[in-house]
Amino acid sequence: MKMFVGYATKEGQSRKIARHIADFAFDTGHSVEILPLNDTSDLDLDRFDAVVLVAPIHTGHYPKALSQFVSFHSDRLEQKDTRFVSVSLAAADYDAEDWRELDHIVDDFSEATGWTPSETKHVAGAYLPSKYDILTGFIMRRILTKRDPDVNPSEDHEYTDWVELNAWINGWLNP
Ligand SMILES: Cc1cc2nc3c(=O)[nH]c(=O)nc-3n(C[C@H](O)[C@H](O)[C@H](O)COP(=O)(O)O)c2cc1C
Repeated sequence: MKMFVGYATKEGQSRKIARHIADFAFDTGHSVEILPLNDTSDLDLDRFDAVVLVAPIHTGHYPKALSQFVSFHSDRLEQKDTRFVSVSLAAADYDAEDWRELDHIVDDFSEATGWTPSETKHVAGAYLPSKYDILTGFIMRRILTKRDPDVNPSEDHEYTDWVELNAWINGWLNP
């Protein structure tokens, strides 16, 4: 399969997840191209059989680069096998309220862009105080200590479950 992996990111975790997906696909015999979504102006989606888009939630929204890409390529995306990987801290929890919120965010995004992927996969992201400015660091620290009181809020912490992610990609690409 010929696959395009596009990503948007602020602190880098979605890029890391996108690269992981691309490497996994390549290692299992697929042809892959990976690009940041804000660098796709001359991309021809007709060259690909499948598209994976990876993007994080920041304050309840996905980055503009994602909605712009999806709106621009909406006709092509409808004709292909498309997967959306939504990266967030809420996906690290088992809290029902958090998951309802994730569903709302995805539904709002689908409604706004008209894109319904073949599948949406929620993946836990990372808490990265080494990359936050002072205000963001302050806010994120308060959120984290509520969510995960056992973690040292001064240190970076990755919640992404790579084994589960591998199982998901494998189930899709190599059924
Ligand atoms: C300013 C800010 C706002 C965030 N807002 C949310 C949010 O509304 N819901 C959520 O589940 N995670 C939220 N997160 C967590 C991010 O989704 C998570 O850190 C993710 O790994 C970021 O991906 P990136 O490194 O690709 O930007 C937020 C993180 C930051 C820094």
